[in-house]
Amino acid sequence: MKHLLKMLDLSKEEIIDILNLADQLKYEQKNGIAHRHLEGKTLGMIFQKSSTRTRVSFETGMYQLGGQALFLSNRDLQIGRGEPVQDTARVLSRYLDGIMIRTFEQKEVEDLAEYGSIPIINGLTDFCHPCQVLADLMTIREHKGRLEGLKMCYIGDGNNMANSLIVGGLKVGMDVAIACPDDYQPDAKVLEFTKEYGDKFTMTADVLEAAKDADVLFTDVWASMGQEGEAEKRKLAFAGYQINDEVMAVAHADAMVQHCLPAHREEEITAKVFEAHADEIFDEAENRLHAQKAVLVKVMA
Ligand code: CP
Ligand code: NVA
Repeated sequence: MKHLLKMLDLSKEEIIDILNLADQLKYEQKNGIAHRHLEGKTLGMIFQKSSTRTRVSFETGMYQLGGQALFLSNRDLQIGRGEPVQDTARVLSRYLDGIMIRTFEQKEVEDLAEYGSIPIINGLTDFCHPCQVLADLMTIREHKGRLEGLKMCYIGDGNNMANSLIVGGLKVGMDVAIACPDDYQPDAKVLEFTKEYGDKFTMTADVLEAAKDADVLFTDVWASMGQEGEAEKRKLAFAGYQINDEVMAVAHADAMVQHCLPAHREEEITAKVFEAHADEIFDEAENRLHAQKAVLVKVMA
């Protein structure tokens, strides 16, 4: 594995391999067993959007692996003043051993990989969030003991999270049901991908239909980073696309709830459901650290 650009690029075997390594690194970290696979290596982290989890988990992860991480804000880099990504990629490849980038356009991430000569990791674009979904799959497997055959339901915007969950879930053998308003469906490339999976993938505007018999329920914010100007319009469009008691009642009695965070209580999820499933949600947040360390080892060691 050279890069982590999007879930579409990974095979089922590569995903399972990452999850297995993530479990092992988590065990080692919890038991004080050294795992300095990236001694002397430097990861550059380019952020064009805000972050709590991604920044802190990558930075901490690099230290635990014996390397170091540089936080590179778009405000300070020349890229923010228009230096081409092609040149940035070639320059940073001379200093760094890997780059994690959070940006708007997926093309920018793909260009970094094309023009640079070091591993590139996608830390969220408008198209996808692969690091998050690897942590999500890790968390589901930890709680449920398996992935294959479970039903995943995602309620809300057909955004970066929906795109990555659909691909990741189907690849590992889950059934995936999406409930979204007609005007906010997942990316066309992702919907094309689902065609290989027949009735293991379903999409509806009906929240209760999608949530029926689900083993794990996901949702995400109604307005993502960069869409702040559409927030009011989106509040109207997404009314009812919420994980609440009514939705939980049609899912399996032991269904898990996952949220990539940050969460907007009483919008995409009620405070009551959020707090009832807080342990699972914060395990998910913790697992960003372990899953990303596995990715770092796979691409940089
Ligand atoms: N879930 C997630 O990526 O969180 P941050 O935006 O805080 O990094
Ligand atoms: N869909 C959200 C996810 C944040 C982690 C966003 O892009 O803002």
